[in-house]
Amino acid sequence: MKRKNIFIVCIISVSLLIASSSVSFGSDKDICKKQIDFYLKIKMNDGLLPGDEFNPYDFKGVATAAKAMLANEKKRTHNDKNHAAITKLVSGHLADIEEAAAKAAPGSVESVGHSLRFLYLSCKACHKVYQTEKRLRP
Ligand code: HEC
Repeated sequence: MKRKNIFIVCIISVSLLIASSSVSFGSDKDICKKQIDFYLKIKMNDGLLPGDEFNPYDFKGVATAAKAMLANEKKRTHNDKNHAAITKLVSGHLADIEEAAAKAAPGSVESVGHSLRFLYLSCKACHKVYQTEKRLRP
């Protein structure tokens, strides 16, 4: 009877260990999976599609997406200085995009587009450093 109890306790503690290690809070994979949807949403609104000059620009959608991305970037956990520094770059461009889109003024579309190019490069910078072999886009 006692042996059985020890066995059960062992099973429970091992499964707890497995469960806790697979829930790695703030992992790049989980965060990036969310970021790509918002990123594409902003990219779709670059004002460069053929019909765009006749369609109202989605300032609100872009500002909301940038805001959500900014919040997600804050969740990244860093193991080294470079990782933190690149995340800071990404966050800076996202803040610029949010600010420009929220203004919804003449020139906002261009400002968002400008920052989006740097956002692309900053996302890419991290992938180049940490995931070269995966050929991620960005
Ligand atoms: C600080 C580093 C870092 C930054 C910044 C970063 N990424 Fe990533 N990203 C990673 C790493 C590392 C992976 C690989 C995760 C894995 O597979 O374990 C990844 C994977 C991805 C993936 C593949 C996810 C999947 O389905 O497996 C996408 C898409 C992605 N990133 C998009 C982005 C976008 C868009 C941005 C910019 C807004 C961005 N990333 C910024 C580090 C970063």
